[in-house]
Amino acid sequence: MSQKLKVGVLGATGMVGQRFISLLENHPWFEVVTLAASPRSAGKTYEEAVGGRWKMTTPMPEAVKNIVVMNVNEVEKVASGVDFVFSAVDMSKDEIKAIEEAYAKTETPVVSNNSAHRWTPDVPMVVPEINPEHFEVIKFQKERLGTTRGFVAVKPNCSIQSYAPVLTAWKEFEPYEVVATTYQAISGAGKTFKDWPEMVENIIPYIGGEEEKSEQEPLRLWGNIEDGVIKKAASPVITCQCIRVPVLNGHTAAVFVKFKKQPTKEQLIEKLVNFKGLPQELELPSAPKQFIQYLEEDNRPQVTADVDFENGMGVSVGRLREDTVYDYKFVGLSHNTVRGAAGGAVLCAELLKAQGYIQAK
Ligand SMILES: NC(=O)c1ccc[n+]([C@@H]2O[C@H](COP(=O)([O-])OP(=O)(O)OC[C@H]3O[C@@H](n4cnc5c(N)ncnc54)[C@H](OP(=O)(O)O)[C@@H]3O)[C@@H](O)[C@H]2O)c1
Repeated sequence: MSQKLKVGVLGATGMVGQRFISLLENHPWFEVVTLAASPRSAGKTYEEAVGGRWKMTTPMPEAVKNIVVMNVNEVEKVASGVDFVFSAVDMSKDEIKAIEEAYAKTETPVVSNNSAHRWTPDVPMVVPEINPEHFEVIKFQKERLGTTRGFVAVKPNCSIQSYAPVLTAWKEFEPYEVVATTYQAISGAGKTFKDWPEMVENIIPYIGGEEEKSEQEPLRLWGNIEDGVIKKAASPVITCQCIRVPVLNGHTAAVFVKFKKQPTKEQLIEKLVNFKGLPQELELPSAPKQFIQYLEEDNRPQVTADVDFENGMGVSVGRLREDTVYDYKFVGLSHNTVRGAAGGAVLCAELLKAQGYIQAK
């Protein structure tokens, strides 16, 4: 009998759901046994429900093709066959909040890619290399939900992963003012060029809700648990513009930073390449060995050359140089649907398992 934990994917037919399924193929700890989506897909095999919508470059795993898709709204039924679920459903924010808590109340942990619970005070929002200690707030959440093993944990927005890890690595130099412009891939909207032909050779200077998330979510990562809730950090202040660009996968960020304590360029690079966290110490299955790479060439990082660094779980940084208005400026790149979405959530689940928060039911 399999010793792997049994996993369900909510929103399994969508772009992020498909990424979960691809990343979990042959996972050493987790086995996908249940797939759920909207009532439109329920009752069909996964292969039928996805039809021509498979968006990954690797083929659909054989093991999921004949799984009959369940209705996400049938919470007890879906939860009964799994140890925990990944959530990537696209519903209204209130519906997602309610349904994720409903799963938690069936004593099924929920590791979510959605934004709905990112500011729920007792829900941890975690990048495992940055703030793994925020999982400690789960005990207060369980008290509120009245559960013993069920809870919701989330990962942050994809846009921040190209610069928040970098600023974290530079924490001791006390960055206090940050200006970032993100150049975001179309897969971040769940789209390919086939679904969104208007994006070919185009730029759209607006992504709904993205600038506020890009400015505020890093502060929550750097916050502390106080009185059973996460209190966000007050600094650095971040201002951001988010631009949709004709790229399939990979969010690039061009960033300016002011520091209270003046570092040299060599010190900054040294902090980046030596930055490690619990995933590296514990050698979690999806952890990148090198979390942040620094590229010396003036024309890097480039999306096509660097987006898959460390299987899409690493962050690439380049063009670090002194600035005439700010202290330094740099360019960062990360994979938005791997590190920024499904891969980031899988790494959270691996850490939650390693720390005993997720166990077989
Ligand atoms: N794409 C990214 O990089 C990214 C990054 C971070 C966060 N997110 C968030 O992750 C979520 C999923 O994004 P996505 O890009 O994967 O979206 P998507 O491709 O549109 O997939 C949406 C999924 O939700 C299901 N769904 C839609 N309406 C539903 C309903 N009323 N009841 C139950 N299930 C329903 C769909 O099932 P059917 O196939 O049956 O319709 C599908 O499985 C969204 O909340 C999005 O904001 C996405």
